[in-house]
Amino acid sequence: MCGIIGYVGPSKVKNILLQGLSQLEYRGYDSAGIAVVGDDGSIHVEKQVGQVKNLKDHCSTMDFDGHVGIGHTRWATHGGVTRENTHPHKQGKVTLCHNGIIENYQSIITAHGFESQLVSETDTEVAAALFNENFNGDPEECIRKTVNELEGSYAFCIIFEGFADRIYCVRNVSPMVASSTKNGSLLASDLTAVIRYSRRYFVIPEYTITVLYDDHIDLFDMDGNTVTPDILEVNWDMESAQKGGYDPFMLKEIHEQPEAIRKNITPRLVNGIPNFEADGIPADAFDHIKAINVVACGTAMYAGMVGKAIIEPVIKIPVQVNIASEFRYSTPLIDSDTLTIVVSQSGETIDTLAGLRKAKECGSKVLAIVNVKGSTIARESDYVLYTHAGPEIAVAITKAYSVQLASFYLISGYMAMRRGIKTVEETREFIEKLDKTIDAISYVLDNKDIIKKAVKKISVARDCYFIGRGLDYAFSMEGSLKLKEISYIHAEAYAAGELKHGTIALIEEGVPVIAFATQDYVYNKSISNIREVKARGAYVILITKENAVIPEDICDMHLTVPIKDDLFTGLPTVAILQLIAYYTSVSKGLNVDKPRNLAKAVTVE
Ligand code: M6R
Repeated sequence: MCGIIGYVGPSKVKNILLQGLSQLEYRGYDSAGIAVVGDDGSIHVEKQVGQVKNLKDHCSTMDFDGHVGIGHTRWATHGGVTRENTHPHKQGKVTLCHNGIIENYQSIITAHGFESQLVSETDTEVAAALFNENFNGDPEECIRKTVNELEGSYAFCIIFEGFADRIYCVRNVSPMVASSTKNGSLLASDLTAVIRYSRRYFVIPEYTITVLYDDHIDLFDMDGNTVTPDILEVNWDMESAQKGGYDPFMLKEIHEQPEAIRKNITPRLVNGIPNFEADGIPADAFDHIKAINVVACGTAMYAGMVGKAIIEPVIKIPVQVNIASEFRYSTPLIDSDTLTIVVSQSGETIDTLAGLRKAKECGSKVLAIVNVKGSTIARESDYVLYTHAGPEIAVAITKAYSVQLASFYLISGYMAMRRGIKTVEETREFIEKLDKTIDAISYVLDNKDIIKKAVKKISVARDCYFIGRGLDYAFSMEGSLKLKEISYIHAEAYAAGELKHGTIALIEEGVPVIAFATQDYVYNKSISNIREVKARGAYVILITKENAVIPEDICDMHLTVPIKDDLFTGLPTVAILQLIAYYTSVSKGLNVDKPRNLAKAVTVE
């Protein structure tokens, strides 16, 4: 959460910072600010509440600039959405931006008597005060001393008075990348803000003091030894991080799904059979495990639920899906016989990262299904399956979820073949079916106008329910999360058979229920449950396979997915759900890409 950008170089910095903040805005958009070092060494700070646009408009009327500066777009944690709480924060000779949470900020205030000098309610300003108190003219010594006292997660981008030609950075957990280019040095919370200037970058290692100058970047460990970073190369271009004709990013990203899935599966097929050798995953990595333990948050966790429904019945080993924020504080019953699969688009979600570390402590090997290359989760896992979806900017995850599902299909097919459950030919057929889902998604996207009609009832509703059984239940959960996060309509997903144990009391005339019946083995049971809500006045949108024969009067609207095999209905079904959420949000006039109170990468607990 929160986005940081910093630049030192020959170009004017103000526009570089503002442009970078626009790219990073999906990480937080409560308020934004920049600090620019003038040619005389003085620091000019500007802040505005609201989106980066407000800061841009404000700054366009002001005559200041320089060649060194830092900027921040905020997702509020400590303290409300106010100008005072907006970064950068200045205390004495220190001006800084921060991403993360300083957990012991209260005890620092008390121990150092900072109460009277703070103007904001933020933990960040407390850290700035501590850096300032520890600063005796040597920034590196100050950073070493200060981080010893700080507890929590942080990425700091700091300007010290008297060192006007450089920016310092230190981080723990919270992400930060940097790049030294022919036209100066940059750092940012993620690549989207850097790629316009360079394809080569490095992830700033934790507990490393990084110093950006206009022509190079120095790194030192906490003992003062020089650190050489691993230089990485971006494999997507700026265009992927732009809207390319679509207005909200979310619609663009929904439409990118067929291509993203293709990019995910094609390079992993050898003669039509999954193969993870090029990913550096040993051929026998899945052979002897007795259980799978999925750890993830939000949409990624729901992808894990689909993974469970795909893997368990075929491979016949238990797949436990864990909410990462619970798992990290639990007593997991896992060991080296368990493979932990952590799933994350950003690769930076702090609870998922903590879950990964916990699983390792228990002796479990960890496989990460991650989108962002070089992210912390990718680096700390034993094996990584990059999902290759390209940058995803909208806060609501769409294409990253589809490629997570595709990865679970590949794993399932691979395990089945390695364990002799499927022959090579059967595995090939399994993958062909996966490949056909790409066309089915395209079909849904080509026929999306019908979904626009479906949302008329939803967009005026207070509540909406999603019901299904088996795999359909797993999709329901993602559909419900998507709707509530971007349309602010209360939405819940229920196993269809569970409704009559309480929730059906909430069904009354006109309440929208999105009901799934794509699974043949429970088709009749699902239809009975749908009848139960219909009989109580629900407005039912039914989703089935294309050749399903549905009873008369069972629904108010019928949507279909062109798939024959139960196991593969997920990807096109989810495209329908994403479009339902998207059109509902649009029809309510909401900000689809930046829903309130949320941020893309959740790097705080
Ligand atoms: O980056 P991650 O996949 O680890 O993020 C996990 C969740 O924060 C994320 O899926 C969240 O639920 C999305 N906003 C859903 O659209």
